[in-house]
Amino acid sequence: MQQAAQDAGYEIVARQDFSDVTFLLEVRHPMLAKAARPGQFVIVMSHPEGERIPLTIADYDRDRGTITLVIQAVGKTTLEMQRDCKVGDRLLALVGPMGMPSHLGHAKKVMCVGGGLGVAPVYPQARGYKENGAYVIGIIGFRNKDLIFWADKFAAVCDELIICTDDGSAGMKGFVSEGMQRAIAKHRDIDECVAIGPPVMMKGCAEVTRPHGIRTIVSLNPVMVDGTGMCGGCRVKLSDGIKFACVDGPDFDGHKVDFDDLMSRLQRYRETEREAAARYDENCRMRSLSATPVIVE
Ligand SMILES: Cc1cc2nc3c(=O)[nH]c(=O)nc-3n(C[C@H](O)[C@H](O)[C@H](O)COP(=O)(O)OP(=O)(O)OC[C@H]3O[C@@H](n4cnc5c(N)ncnc54)[C@H](O)[C@@H]3O)c2cc1C
Ligand code: FES
Repeated sequence: MQQAAQDAGYEIVARQDFSDVTFLLEVRHPMLAKAARPGQFVIVMSHPEGERIPLTIADYDRDRGTITLVIQAVGKTTLEMQRDCKVGDRLLALVGPMGMPSHLGHAKKVMCVGGGLGVAPVYPQARGYKENGAYVIGIIGFRNKDLIFWADKFAAVCDELIICTDDGSAGMKGFVSEGMQRAIAKHRDIDECVAIGPPVMMKGCAEVTRPHGIRTIVSLNPVMVDGTGMCGGCRVKLSDGIKFACVDGPDFDGHKVDFDDLMSRLQRYRETEREAAARYDENCRMRSLSATPVIVE
């Protein structure tokens, strides 16, 4: 019985910390690794009292039977995972693959654009396009050189790679949208673009490609609850109607997305999220105080 409890869940086989907020977990789940396609995500619950959160399948290795998640610690659950998820531990529940796989189509020349954490989810698309025979231009952006990750993985699947940093500490100085302008000026025949990152970045990328008529796919991250299309929590507004990101997406045509509506919906729970993070912080502080040995002189 005890052994069964120990064997429940999905083993974390590797962990890598890219910065003090971003970390990678490689998790063993052979069926999921076999079924996963670029663009899909999982819903994770790390322990019985934990929250269910959606995370993109940033990579999958069918031979090793693993999927890779890249996580940014931004609030209670992700901070808790950053603190507690170690190699050899198990995630209690991992549901997926969820969402529609990206439609990689027959594009001949594509830009795969990732900003910050968005670099991870755009990787499987870049690899998928490359496997389909497309000429792939990778454009990845970070605030500074210390935050760069997966440049080597991108270099391996891209024909050209442009690294952008906000402060110019590595690659070209500027946002990914400026990297895109540079690529478009050099290549007049780009027929597709995938851009993943914060909503404001994806909005900017869609505006760069719009005048050139380049089909642009973005991956949206509204707050998800059930992940089954039932609750309506993840509704997104497009110029041709309302869609649910968990079942209709998360990929959508960037030229149709109402990004201002998405950004305002993401703000809606900020106060509750701030309170939950503050409570978590306080609990951690109390826990570390109670673990501090009392020194009697
Ligand atoms: C399809 C999809 C894929 C995602 N992939 C990744 C990923 O690969 N790596 C990663 O670090 N993050 C990813 N996210 C965002 C991640 O789910 C949230 O950061 C996480 O839920 C935050 O929980 P928290 O308790 O740590 O923080 P909270 O303080 O609860 O929230 C911080 C912010 O995260 C977002 N968020 C909160 N709850 C949810 C929820 N249930 N669903 C979606 N967003 C939420 C909100 O914007 C919120 O302001 C993805 C979201 C979606 C919808
Ligand atoms: S998360 Fe409930 S409908 Fe998408």
